[in-house]
Amino acid sequence: MLHEKLEKNTALMAVLIVVAISFGGLVQIVPLMFKGAIVEPADGVEPYSAIRLAGRDVYIAEGCYNCHSQQIRPFRSETERYGHYSVAGEFVYDHPFQWGSKRTGPDLARVGGIYSDDWHYLHMIDPRAVVPESNMPAYPWLEHRYVDGQAIEQRMRALRRLGHPYTDEQIENASSEVAGVTELEALIAYLQGLGTEWTGQRPGAQAGGE
Ligand code: HEC
Repeated sequence: MLHEKLEKNTALMAVLIVVAISFGGLVQIVPLMFKGAIVEPADGVEPYSAIRLAGRDVYIAEGCYNCHSQQIRPFRSETERYGHYSVAGEFVYDHPFQWGSKRTGPDLARVGGIYSDDWHYLHMIDPRAVVPESNMPAYPWLEHRYVDGQAIEQRMRALRRLGHPYTDEQIENASSEVAGVTELEALIAYLQGLGTEWTGQRPGAQAGGE
């Protein structure tokens, strides 16, 4: 039988397995590369300003993603706690994205605007000062470090090459925008922007509500 021959000929079997898997992979992956909703920014989503970009660098450098995710799944348990589930178009200016996979702390995808700047300030200097049962580490040194304007300017140029629509003016002003700004201030600006830009959120959007 043909099938028996196939199963006994490992080389041929291996080739056919690769062909089958490639088809499956192509069918799943290729359309995603061209789908507008995934490669186009969602309504209202803009590239990060210089200060928020600097804050994002701090977020990455300090490894916040080890305990915090930035993606809300389309389940009622998530949307009731965190807000509208995340959509792909919210992340087009995230290089690399900060979705994360571990939640020792809460998801931060929509934390922007929920607390005051002062709350974040106290929380980063000493989490236990505002959340007594917290096991989040303190980051007091961020208050004494300053953002490197030159580095941010270069980062924006690099991102423009990747397709972020920064204007010459935005890039030229980057250094002065972050002059004298501490890493803590930049981080708070970043956190306060998370999830606030996309204007297409539908109130009460829940799992299966598409
Ligand atoms: C070891 C794990 C851990 C790390 C690393 C960590 N966090 Fe947290 N984070 C937590 C936990 C647990 C909470 C919940 C308790 C609290 O609010 O302090 C939390 C809460 C938060 C909150 C409040 C969220 C909310 O919805 O109430 C923010 C904002 C936050 N973290 C930001 C950060 C930032 C920024 C960093 C990196 C500089 C960071 N975290 C690093 C564990 C962590």
